[in-house]
Amino acid sequence: MSGIVVVGSANIDQVLRVERIPSPGETVLSHGLNTALGGKGQNQAVASARAGAETTFIGAVGADSFGEMVRTGLSADSIGVSQLRTTQKPTGTALIAVDGTGENTIIVEPGANSDVLVLTSADSAAISAASALVMQLEIPLQTVVEAARVAHAVGTRVILNAAPIQVLPQVLLENLDVLIVNEHEAAEMAKDNGLATELTGLGERLLTLVPTVIVTWGSKGASLHRVGTDEVLVPAHRVTAVDATGAGDTFCGAFAAGLVEGMLADDALRFAVAAASISVESHGAVPSIPLRAAIETRAKESRH
Ligand code: RIB
Repeated sequence: MSGIVVVGSANIDQVLRVERIPSPGETVLSHGLNTALGGKGQNQAVASARAGAETTFIGAVGADSFGEMVRTGLSADSIGVSQLRTTQKPTGTALIAVDGTGENTIIVEPGANSDVLVLTSADSAAISAASALVMQLEIPLQTVVEAARVAHAVGTRVILNAAPIQVLPQVLLENLDVLIVNEHEAAEMAKDNGLATELTGLGERLLTLVPTVIVTWGSKGASLHRVGTDEVLVPAHRVTAVDATGAGDTFCGAFAAGLVEGMLADDALRFAVAAASISVESHGAVPSIPLRAAIETRAKESRH
């Protein structure tokens, strides 16, 4: 078994830089519009590849110029695209507002991502041959459930980033090895599953659903929770954040890459926190995802 298969979304991000995110009913002026590659699936695949893992992406784009941009971008990062479909719907689009502190709001129009409805036999073969399957929730849930079933049946590690959060069926939860959520998603999952939602002890409570849980806490870092082991907290690096878009995806891809190359989970967590800390220092999702050498340098700096 080798490498990582990412099953998920690919978007084109239309990013507006604003002083502050408008309230409902309010109009604000932007001081810049950028078009960049994004989508949680694509971001995580790029993060995995740039962190050093052999990576394959399974998803869908439209028969349009944005679809070509995605295909070309993934290939430029040496990501396998032979199972990237082209469908009749337009390539997925995300409208993103980023404020002066680097925080964002995102609205996604799934477009072609909603056509990732079934796995082909080639998809299943790729998942079965991989060391890890990485997924998010911007494609139809039925495909996520099916991919997790295929992977779990043959021992491919299943890593789910439950974003954007939705109610997850038991049949999916029982096939997951690692769940990665931010604090809001963690609280939502706790609520959906009848668990207490207060932040203290949240990661530990989610262990009743999945054997390994990672909670990302934004500028506070990330915590790793495993059944029968003490919690590990890795604080975030002190950086000047200009754009948090894709930081969580960078974390997920780098963590998966660390795991499949044999890092202990604690070390993969430190590696992923370092990767995410670099991604917030520049604009855009895919454009800000760091290469392995930069991640290693950042991870070493934090030890001094
Ligand atoms: O997680 C960030 C991503 O969410 C963006 O790139 C956007 O496309 C949405 O999928």
